[in-house]
Amino acid sequence: MALVEVRNVKKYFSVTKGIVESLMTREATYVRAVDGISFEIEKGEVLGLAGESGSGKTTTGRLCVRLLRPTEGEIIYNGKDIATMKGKELRRMRRRIQFTFQDPTSSLNPRLKIGDAISDALKLQGIGSADERRGRTDEILERVGLSPASSFYNRLPHQLSGGQKQRVVFGRAIILNPEFVVTDEPVAMVDVSIKAQILDLMMDLKRELDLTYLFISHDLATSRHVCDRIAIMYLGKIVEVADRDRIYEDPLHPYAVGLMNAIPIPDPKAKKAEAVPRGEIPSPINPPSGCRFHPRCPMAFEKCPNEEPELRDLGNGRQVACHLYDN
Ligand SMILES: Nc1ncnc2c1ncn2[C@@H]1O[C@H](COP(=O)(O)OP(=O)(O)OP(=O)(O)O)[C@@H](O)[C@H]1O
Ligand SMILES: [Mg+2]
Repeated sequence: MALVEVRNVKKYFSVTKGIVESLMTREATYVRAVDGISFEIEKGEVLGLAGESGSGKTTTGRLCVRLLRPTEGEIIYNGKDIATMKGKELRRMRRRIQFTFQDPTSSLNPRLKIGDAISDALKLQGIGSADERRGRTDEILERVGLSPASSFYNRLPHQLSGGQKQRVVFGRAIILNPEFVVTDEPVAMVDVSIKAQILDLMMDLKRELDLTYLFISHDLATSRHVCDRIAIMYLGKIVEVADRDRIYEDPLHPYAVGLMNAIPIPDPKAKKAEAVPRGEIPSPINPPSGCRFHPRCPMAFEKCPNEEPELRDLGNGRQVACHLYDN
């Protein structure tokens, strides 16, 4: 059984319209941020979620930890729909599933000492005495590389570098001994030189604490270092899922091909990557008909604007939603 199973999940946000528009139509307007996705995460796995800005990655992550509730569909954690959890079971789930926010600076209270920011999770769950919480927090500070703990505990977020703030964010995520961590763009805000250290920390924590990750990143070069499998999203849909090496070496969906071609190549003599995929991501309020990618797709044919492709299993753990692979 998978640890996490997302089944046909949709998340629509209603948006307010201008006065004129709302007089002309009675229908509500929705942003279809996530529009019918299914995937599984095995225990101990790192599943990467990739795709351009606005494709629905963060929304998917927030749904997985019940920071948002789905408009439709189910999120099954250890065999149980998280939407129906209550009381003790819900509190337990809140300890075992953690989320790290996209921007460490705005997710840390600027006036709260970082030690307190980390130990607050224990306090909220009513765990330990003040002394015990302090002891445990010191351990966690050391564990995430903010050592010696005594010199970091009382610092405020602005006294830390981007990388150190990200360490605090991981400390806060692991102090309750979670099983599943959704980490949203954990290295997007840190210096290139620090990126590898943060990713190493993340993977060390995974081994020591037996974690399972949903690793959200628009940066495919980074995902390649840490993910076992990658799911690629486009405008609220998953267009391709495959094992890491397979999807980097042989992407099938034209959108995946475009993203792979756009990964910067360190070799200056290499052929310059095309600025693919061409054009901009359309609005998720009125997504294109048929395959949502068809207006930007270099391979589109008659069927594409008319029929929505299903995410199909092509064997070897690969799934693709594209009419090129219908047969
Ligand atoms: N609370 C909300 N209300 C209305 N629209 C929203 C809300 N949250 C997200 N959206 C919209 O849903 C779509 C998906 O957003 P989401 O943040 O999930 O994308 P993302 O893939 O994480 O993008 P990024 O790479 O920029 O972080 C976007 O069009 C966004 O504007
Ligand atoms: Mg996001």
